[in-house]
Amino acid sequence: MILPGATVGVLGGGQLGRMFAVTAQRMGYRVVVLDPDPDSPAGRIADVHLAADYADRQALDELARQCAAVTVEFENVPASSLEFLARVRPVRPGVAAVAIAQDRVREKRFLAECGLAVVPFSVVLDSDGLSEALVHLGGSAVLKRARLGYDGKGQARVRSLAEALAAFESFGSEPCVLEKLTVFQKEISVVLARGADGATAVYPVIENRHRGGILDTSLIPARTPSAVAQAAVDAANRIAGVLDYVGVLAVEFFVSNGELLVNEIAPRPHNSGHVTLDACITSQFEQQVRALCGLPLGDPALLCPAAMTNLLGDLWIPHAPRWDAILNEPRAKLHLYGKRAARSGRKMGHFTCLGDTLDDARARALRVRRVVTRKPMALWRQRLAGEAAHK
Ligand SMILES: Nc1ncnc2c1ncn2[C@@H]1O[C@H](COP(=O)(O)OP(=O)(O)O)[C@@H](O)[C@H]1O
Ligand SMILES: [Mg+2]
Repeated sequence: MILPGATVGVLGGGQLGRMFAVTAQRMGYRVVVLDPDPDSPAGRIADVHLAADYADRQALDELARQCAAVTVEFENVPASSLEFLARVRPVRPGVAAVAIAQDRVREKRFLAECGLAVVPFSVVLDSDGLSEALVHLGGSAVLKRARLGYDGKGQARVRSLAEALAAFESFGSEPCVLEKLTVFQKEISVVLARGADGATAVYPVIENRHRGGILDTSLIPARTPSAVAQAAVDAANRIAGVLDYVGVLAVEFFVSNGELLVNEIAPRPHNSGHVTLDACITSQFEQQVRALCGLPLGDPALLCPAAMTNLLGDLWIPHAPRWDAILNEPRAKLHLYGKRAARSGRKMGHFTCLGDTLDDARARALRVRRVVTRKPMALWRQRLAGEAAHK
């Protein structure tokens, strides 16, 4: 067991790294963050920030020298860096799980091997393959880069070969998967933690609504029949077991005509799991610290129903959101990630509304959301003028 007072490391200095760092520090750990951005959200609050590339051998050496164990904030760190660290320190989750999650082709094959249903897909390596795959999938599909996609980036909906070829080219003609455009009634996620001893702690299933490929709102517990929720939990447990996983794992699903399809996995705390910060006895970040340090896992039980809404950079344009809308709601908890530059689609923060019932939490979140996203007339005029100018 790595006890409080020790130093732990995280690769990646975004909001997930920051919430990990805040939690670890609350529990008495020192935190070292490796992130090339000198102004990263986690780097700024870490005890030590190594501002270097994820493949920088000297920085990795230093990370290993200072830290008793290392985790990741996101899956897109070079697997070779994790292998390098794993030779001298516990790296949790392990390299194998991260390597699968960072490559959609490997991920799909792995999920199929686990006996789980996924959206029909084809691997695309070149334009001929793309054309065959599009015919095979029926003409309407989603092209996704195999690597380095997130928040809907690196993917495009395509309805014709011309659109598909243009998207493929815009992704640098890198390997992709082409997925059938799926009609689903609901998206849900399972977030769980698994310790080195194989013990697991699973959160209640979370219901997610995306807009433009980016998570907008998460509800806990999901409004879904218990059989569907149980099947999702079973699937997530199976994935964690097969990977002999240690850490926090998230699994995203589509619920399509009562059938459960696995969309993707994340080898880390998940945006939908941010509800656990305020709504559960133990948050997903505390579980990440506990699993990393070999401590017993905390109780994932729900304290009360909750609704979480992301705050994207768009809300900062042209000026900061109406904070009063969030602060006036006595059951809203505001979380901001300390990012200086607001860009469209960039996750700047989130707020969570707690409720006596899920409907109560939802109603509070919707009320707040309506005011927060209200744009001043001047901005709409500007936008309309911009659109008119493009025509
Ligand atoms: N095959 C699909 N059919 C319909 N919608 C999809 C499909 N794939 C992705 N989406 C939508 O786009 C969102 C983001 O896609 P996802 O594959 O999860 O990538 P990311 O890594 O960006 O989260 C999904 O949560 C879902 O709302
Ligand atoms: Mg996703």
